[in-house]
Amino acid sequence: MSELIPAPRAVEGPSPCGVPLDGDTPLWAAPGTQTTERWLRATLGAALGLPLRPAPEDGRGGVRLLLDDSLKPEAYRLSATADRGVEIRGGDPAGVFWGAQTLRQLLGPEAFRRAPVRPDHTLGIPHQIIEDSPRFRWRGLMLDVARHFMPKDGVLRYLDLMAAHKLNVFHFHLTDDQGWRLEIQRYPRLTEVGSWRARTKFGHRASPLWEEKPHGGYYTQDDIREIVAYAAERHITVVPEIDVPGHSQAAIAAYPELGNTDVVASATAGDTALSVWDSWGVSPNVLAPADNTLRFYEGVFEEVLDLFPSEFIHVGGDECPKDQWRRSPAAQARIRELGLADEDELQSWFIGHFDTWLSARGRRLIGWDEILEGGLAAGATVSSWRGYAGGIAAARAGHDVVMCPEQQVYLDHRQADGADEPVPIGYVRTLEDVYRFEPVPPQLTEAEAGRVLGTQANVWTEVMENQARVDYQAFPRLAAFAEVAWSALPPPAERDFADFERRMAAHYRRLDALGVAYRPPAGPRPWQRRPGVLGRPIEGAPPNR
Ligand code: ACM
Repeated sequence: MSELIPAPRAVEGPSPCGVPLDGDTPLWAAPGTQTTERWLRATLGAALGLPLRPAPEDGRGGVRLLLDDSLKPEAYRLSATADRGVEIRGGDPAGVFWGAQTLRQLLGPEAFRRAPVRPDHTLGIPHQIIEDSPRFRWRGLMLDVARHFMPKDGVLRYLDLMAAHKLNVFHFHLTDDQGWRLEIQRYPRLTEVGSWRARTKFGHRASPLWEEKPHGGYYTQDDIREIVAYAAERHITVVPEIDVPGHSQAAIAAYPELGNTDVVASATAGDTALSVWDSWGVSPNVLAPADNTLRFYEGVFEEVLDLFPSEFIHVGGDECPKDQWRRSPAAQARIRELGLADEDELQSWFIGHFDTWLSARGRRLIGWDEILEGGLAAGATVSSWRGYAGGIAAARAGHDVVMCPEQQVYLDHRQADGADEPVPIGYVRTLEDVYRFEPVPPQLTEAEAGRVLGTQANVWTEVMENQARVDYQAFPRLAAFAEVAWSALPPPAERDFADFERRMAAHYRRLDALGVAYRPPAGPRPWQRRPGVLGRPIEGAPPNR
């Protein structure tokens, strides 16, 4: 019985006989399959000591990689047969790569180790034919590196974890009130000032506790080039997010003129200097709707476009409180000058500017669903996070949508109740809840449903101060999410969660081999617990969002 995650579309077999793999097994890679050839040698070579020496094209047996234009993009057919050995055909280079991910799972948990092991059995792939292709073309993971910085090696590791789950869009949340993480050469203070905060609220925002030490870090442009190239080798697109006009306090701390200086000055007796924020929630300090702000961010986005080749560029647009704009004489003058009705239309004007600017450069804007308020920019795509409603409205208006409702796929939310759970925010969303998440709401017509590019799980890191805590929140739920994004599952109520759990038993061994600090089914391990005030919501406190 198949133990694959995500589940493939169809498996013929497996039979008890198999194709053996050993130190003499050759690998032949047709033109166009070199990313997979490199990945297989590096990964299986490191884990299992399989050198996969190059084979001649007409060689028989071993492992063969090739493109097959009868298959759709990202689709693959993996066949393990007595006469041909292991053959992976892909509709495109990505399809071959996803087939290789399946091959690794078929080889057992040892294939997931990062140091060579001598398996205690002969390696082999049971004879079978697997036909597979993804349900969605956008199978995303968003990682917030602004609230807590994840050093480059941790990001590369997450790209590997995504690849192992056939996820293909890495939404990189690079800027927020609490930190600016991307080197911008023309504005050095964004990282000199904006990448460090003096201290950090520990736990929920209503917690009385502080981590009284500086926190920060940023990626140099060389780091980013390395991350983007590493992702591309794994057929993952990196979509950068520069959040405007809210969630911008770190940028304003670096360049105070980006803020609404007229209201900040009156609130701070003439001092317009803000710090990088040390607490959680939604900062009232937002960008000024001024020409110099637009020019500044055009400069930022010019460097962003040089670094990130992705079609989509995320401009945030979420949670921008309008209070400063209401009180700012300069913002009010701007509303009058532009003939706008209100502050929502001002935000829409701001986002619309970058929609036009990005379109003129051959890119597409994507933003959180608040960009619907005040009118959606012509070319915009929507990340629907406050539920399905934003995505439904956008799809009906003919816009593309990525479904990531917080009620279902915000992985910062705790995954079980109980005093031992270390993360005291959000709703309880279990592994089964995520498994039963449906990205396409039934209200959409078929044509509208076609606007749903796919889905994405979001990992916000206010309460995840290191990689082990990110692992705990993300796993095992990301495995369930990956199956939702990739596999052709029945409607939520009919999904076979018991079979998923059965396959998870094998998958936990893979995650162990990868060193993933997931939440075990029986609850947190002793070192994952956080008893006392840190482990529980603070009495009477509002949820973080
Ligand atoms: C969000 O969670 N503010 C997009």
